[in-house]
Amino acid sequence: MHKFEKIWMSIGTGSLILFLVILGVSAVHAGHTPAASGIETIHPDYVRDDNRFSEPGLYESSEEGYDYDLYYVASAFRYEPAEVEVPQGSRVRMQVVTTDVVHGFQVVNTNINMMVEPGLVSTYGTNFNTVGEYLVICNEYCGVGHTDMTSVIKVVP
Ligand code: CUA
Repeated sequence: MHKFEKIWMSIGTGSLILFLVILGVSAVHAGHTPAASGIETIHPDYVRDDNRFSEPGLYESSEEGYDYDLYYVASAFRYEPAEVEVPQGSRVRMQVVTTDVVHGFQVVNTNINMMVEPGLVSTYGTNFNTVGEYLVICNEYCGVGHTDMTSVIKVVP
């Protein structure tokens, strides 16, 4: 075999092996661990098996810097919980997942605006300082019920 052919063949084989190794590594990590980017992954089919998302809602946070964790499950065409009360002044870590397609998670009249993609946990930390009712809307077109997809956050004194 020609010398250059050998070199190119080994480069080809090498990159194939490297590719398979990377695939294998990501398959192993596809459970509940943070991806390399620091974004947490979650398998859309097993969202309900995760303690946070089996009964989504407001829970006291063990996370430093937060009073509460607020968990949401988005699916066509609703959010769970549909309504939640948050004490005024709370530091809240919101985590949103989807069980099906891409949804949006926008809290009207705030900076909170996330894309919720299958396979990822979307996280947003915020303070709810102003009493009132905040409408959560889906801002990614997700099907016929898209415009009905809402939830309410009530910030109470
Ligand atoms: Cu969900 Cu649009």
